[in-house]
Amino acid sequence: MNDTRAGRIIIALDVRTKEEGLALVGALEEARVFKVGLELFTAEGPALFKKIKALRKEVFLDLKLHDIPNTVAGAVRSAGGHGVRMMTIHTSGGREMMAAAAEMAGRVSQETGRPKPLLLGVTVLTSLKGGDLEEVGMNGDVAGQVLRLAGLAKAAGLDGVVCSPQEIEALRREFGRDLVIVTPGIRPQWAAAQDQKRIMTPAEAVDRGADYLVIGRPITGAPSPREAFLRVVSELPQSAE
Ligand code: C5P
Repeated sequence: MNDTRAGRIIIALDVRTKEEGLALVGALEEARVFKVGLELFTAEGPALFKKIKALRKEVFLDLKLHDIPNTVAGAVRSAGGHGVRMMTIHTSGGREMMAAAAEMAGRVSQETGRPKPLLLGVTVLTSLKGGDLEEVGMNGDVAGQVLRLAGLAKAAGLDGVVCSPQEIEALRREFGRDLVIVTPGIRPQWAAAQDQKRIMTPAEAVDRGADYLVIGRPITGAPSPREAFLRVVSELPQSAE
């Protein structure tokens, strides 16, 4: 689905209401995929998906699911039934949980005739550092842990992972092109970093091997979100077509 440069950019709808969210979806004519996260989903529920899809856009549901296999598979079935195009699952939920989710994504696609929802694994949250991992009883080597969990995700049948731009190259070295890589933490040179710390420009992230970039405030908070979006697209390498 990333056959154009515009299709590689996922807009983070980090807003509180459907009115704000749909205004952005409407304004960003050339954008194709919109990320609905915990805040907006909890406020508005799945009714919002229909409205986004009515505007001929695709939904990335970012709820970072983490539960027993049967429950996560059930959530994948529900999301697939709503025509969600991409969704996130915590890899630390384990192999069986991810395999159940992957199996259900295939099944729901067969049942609905829609494309299989892309399942993306969340490895280590970028808000956690080595010391935080140790505190919860995990090995404090963040980079090693990311590779380990990404390998498990791939083996269990997930389509890809969400990672920080700093992790793209190591993941590509280890797993080649056969893993969808989605990365937030993206800042064009002309945008403020805000609370993002280890940032990368859109072009650099694509050059390192990202398939999709999640971008929020540099676009959604710009005086003209559409102009900001088109500017980011124009900065992506031609090879990203
Ligand atoms: O506004 P900004 O471009 O920083 O938004 C980035 C989006 O990506 C937000 O929805 C944020 O929650 C998400 N995200 C992130 N860093 C991560 C994982 C997700 O910024 N490590």
